[in-house]
Amino acid sequence: MNYYILTLFPEMMEQTLHTSILGKAEEKGLIKIQAVNIRDYTKDRHQKTDDYPYGGGAGMVMQAQPIYDAYLAVTEEIGYRPRTVYLTPQGPTFTQSKAKELAAEKDLVFLCGHYEGVDERVLEEIVTDYVSIGDYVLTGGELPAMVMIDAVSRMIPGVLTNEASGMAESFEGNLLEYPQYSRPFEWNGKKAPEILLSGDHRKIEIWRREQSILRTKKYRPDLLQKADLTIKEKAVYGVNDESAGRSV
Ligand code: ADE
Repeated sequence: MNYYILTLFPEMMEQTLHTSILGKAEEKGLIKIQAVNIRDYTKDRHQKTDDYPYGGGAGMVMQAQPIYDAYLAVTEEIGYRPRTVYLTPQGPTFTQSKAKELAAEKDLVFLCGHYEGVDERVLEEIVTDYVSIGDYVLTGGELPAMVMIDAVSRMIPGVLTNEASGMAESFEGNLLEYPQYSRPFEWNGKKAPEILLSGDHRKIEIWRREQSILRTKKYRPDLLQKADLTIKEKAVYGVNDESAGRSV
């Protein structure tokens, strides 16, 4: 996967995205992250990339020309117009399933906005996906882009060393992940659940599923309504919805 991040602050990306698991994925050639400095493409003699909003109002608007030329530099390099994500609190909220969907792409462009926004005309021209990372307003799109790149990358085969850990985890089937324990058996007066040491994999699986459901019911009841539960589980955990549910 090749990521192209159109930004006024490329240095923000350099620090974060080339370390840890993503750094290793880059070394293995599974992902490549390129920050494209929008300012390098301005035709303004003072290197300006923003201007006052037509109609008045607070703040500045990022102009269309430098963004479009930065985008064209990418599309000319790769030879087609890839999916292009604009990070904005006005978009639909980013989810695990969107991360999986985007992980199947070969190239992704992220446009990071700043100030009061971006000239609408360039958005109409290049953006395929509007995405928010939550109902709050940040100072720019760089952190949201990094959040998305992290979530998308770990869905790419080979990025996580343990393939399975990308599967049985929070949001699989709209359930949160079960609690985990490791040595020592007793810590701070608290014992790990005995069943996890029983060696009975079937019982452990049942216990973990139950914990997942209970956790989701407690912390994310909204998710539980959409969860992939059997009819019996729905009855046991008091989930009532119109659909019939799975039979096994
Ligand atoms: N830019 C500013 N706030 C944002 C948010 N919540 N999600 C995505 N992009 C943003």
